[in-house]
Amino acid sequence: MTTTSYDAIILGGGAAGLMAAATAGQRGRRVLVVDHARAVGAKILISGGGRCNFTNIGTAADRFVSANPHFAKSALGRYTAADFLALVERHGIAWHEKTLGQLFCDGSARQIVDLLLAECAAGQVRIACGFPVRDVAHGDGAYRVTFGNEEASAPSLVIATGGPSIPKIGASDFAYHLAKRFGLKLVEPRPALVPLTLAGEEALFRELSGVSTEVVARVGKASFREAALFTHRGLSGPSILQVSSYWRHGEEVGVDFLPERGSGWLREAKRAAPRASLKRVLGLPDRLADALVERLALTGELANLPDRALEAAERRLADWRFRPSGTEGYAKAEVTVGGISTAELSSRTMEARRVPGLYAIGEAVDVTGWLGGYNFQWAWSSGWAAGQAL
Ligand code: FDA
Repeated sequence: MTTTSYDAIILGGGAAGLMAAATAGQRGRRVLVVDHARAVGAKILISGGGRCNFTNIGTAADRFVSANPHFAKSALGRYTAADFLALVERHGIAWHEKTLGQLFCDGSARQIVDLLLAECAAGQVRIACGFPVRDVAHGDGAYRVTFGNEEASAPSLVIATGGPSIPKIGASDFAYHLAKRFGLKLVEPRPALVPLTLAGEEALFRELSGVSTEVVARVGKASFREAALFTHRGLSGPSILQVSSYWRHGEEVGVDFLPERGSGWLREAKRAAPRASLKRVLGLPDRLADALVERLALTGELANLPDRALEAAERRLADWRFRPSGTEGYAKAEVTVGGISTAELSSRTMEARRVPGLYAIGEAVDVTGWLGGYNFQWAWSSGWAAGQAL
């Protein structure tokens, strides 16, 4: 078997790996990307409903979940959302802002994969797809990777194989195994940006499958005002996906079903429309209003309901407690929280502090963005930071 030498071998041709490869390649480095999937960028292609929410103009370190909330600052500050947007524009890709700073392609996510491939080609990057990595060895200052019938060696190896969410499109926990083999610590990974399931008495809410309304969802100190959606298994929608990244088994999720209403609104409603029912003044989707009124056991005209009961109902509607039985798991999770501990890595270069030449970037690392383009921005920023150092 012949061995080919490179300056850097990047394992994983996703968002972060391709960004790192293009950056290093264009700096004159000889770069090899190895990916076990038949084509690179599978997650990019299915992202953002096929239009790829490629960044968020509100990107800031406090929109990421990590054991070290400061870790992402350096990379995010050195390669910003504006930098990636400039690249998108250089490639003539039309884009639009959808909501909350989220930028999408007007056309298709394929354009972002093509952009990355063009940037890699400009850096003469070699991309080897369809090869499961069989072995990684390290010795004499070089990493040796065996794939197919080939062996490649380089002084730098980049772990860019992402997290285990959506295994059916090639996601794996390879990054964690490799990191552990090199003695790097992990922050326990768990599915994130994932629907939550309801069981027991709360399973009755599953009857509302398909009903959606704007809420404020809270877990601990994290709160998000966006739509919530009831599903046949529990709760989903952007606000729930967002809080799922902060949720741990056994915790409650608080939902404010009426975030527009100020304190005392229900007593005021009683004065203004005493003949109205609670259901009518809620102004929520019909099936949801029925379910909530039934659980509050407040039927009939408001005039006949005591103020104290209305105050209690108001408090409950503003902080309805669900105790999810779990999540829909990696099969449905958009990302993974946790991963390779940031304590192991330089925030400037993404290189492992104790293992020279070993780097980790993207979702494999314990940095997870909110819903809305933040995860790709982390992939671009961390990939770029490593690409500058390779
Ligand atoms: P990524 O998963 O992109 O790439 C990892 C690569 O490694 C893959 O190509 C895989 O084949 C390869 N690989 C895995 N194991 C391997 C092994 N053992 N050997 C060799 N190769 C291996 N984010 C966002 O910001 N905006 C959005 O619109 C969306 N939308 C979205 C939709 C859906 C359905 C999902 C599942 C996810 C998103 N995301 C998102 C999240 C985003 O896709 C994710 O955070 C990035 O793709 C992470 O980039 P990485 O390069 O780290 O991993």
